[in-house]
Amino acid sequence: MATTGGHLQGFGSTNRSDSWWVGPTATAIGLGTWLVYYSWVVLQGKYWAAGPYLSPFYLTYNHPTDVTDTSPAYALWGMWPEGWPALITPALVLGLLPGAFRITCYYYRKAYYRAFFGMPPGCAVGTRRVDYRGETALLLFQNMHRYTLYLAIALLPVLYFEAALGFFWEDSFGVGIGGVMLLINAILLTGYTLGCHAWRHLVGGRLNCFSCDGISKSRHGAWSFTTWLNQRHMMFAWMSLYWILFSDLYIRLVSMGVVPDVNTWHGVTWISAFH
Ligand code: FES
Repeated sequence: MATTGGHLQGFGSTNRSDSWWVGPTATAIGLGTWLVYYSWVVLQGKYWAAGPYLSPFYLTYNHPTDVTDTSPAYALWGMWPEGWPALITPALVLGLLPGAFRITCYYYRKAYYRAFFGMPPGCAVGTRRVDYRGETALLLFQNMHRYTLYLAIALLPVLYFEAALGFFWEDSFGVGIGGVMLLINAILLTGYTLGCHAWRHLVGGRLNCFSCDGISKSRHGAWSFTTWLNQRHMMFAWMSLYWILFSDLYIRLVSMGVVPDVNTWHGVTWISAFH
């Protein structure tokens, strides 16, 4: 078989003897399962709120006050426009920005290029096309990543705001499973966002000396923290991705009356039947 630079040619051909295909296969299953769930959320278009909790898929929507009505009446920016196609739900529109951030993420690019496109399937494994030209032509849109980062950072306070609302119900502070899940969701998304390679460059790049002045020293501290997160970027990518799903699923099931919420307001609470 022909070789290029010592590597075998032909899709999937390799001299590697380890289980290189496990990673791309797990990625395809993980991302595929998440996308199927997200599509279901978009298509269902309801059950996004329960008691004091608002699904993270409906970020920027107003705090619900009446669980019997999970209509778009709670939209922070007013009513969801009438007459829009049924497929254009808040979950779809609000998913565009985080979606663009993840799609252009350096880690995810590696992951889905391998898992879904076989370009290449793994290190030193034959790619699907011999004329692979890297991220040129249409793939130049991946350079938008830094700009999607700015917007993702701007969303972080909103995440914490929504999580904080989950600790206030019926004019009193309390703790429930949903609120804790939303808080963990905000923390994991912060870990993912601040571990971004582009962010690490912003806080620590373009400096020749970390110890020259006060600002450089504090930037070194921020850079060190970002580096710690960056070394765990893949872990935060997956944990934050799936915690959004778990948070939404929990709130959805509570809203549908499938499971009760456990909280300090009313103990075991069947919120769907509460009103
Ligand atoms: Fe992954 Fe920026 S590199 S979020």
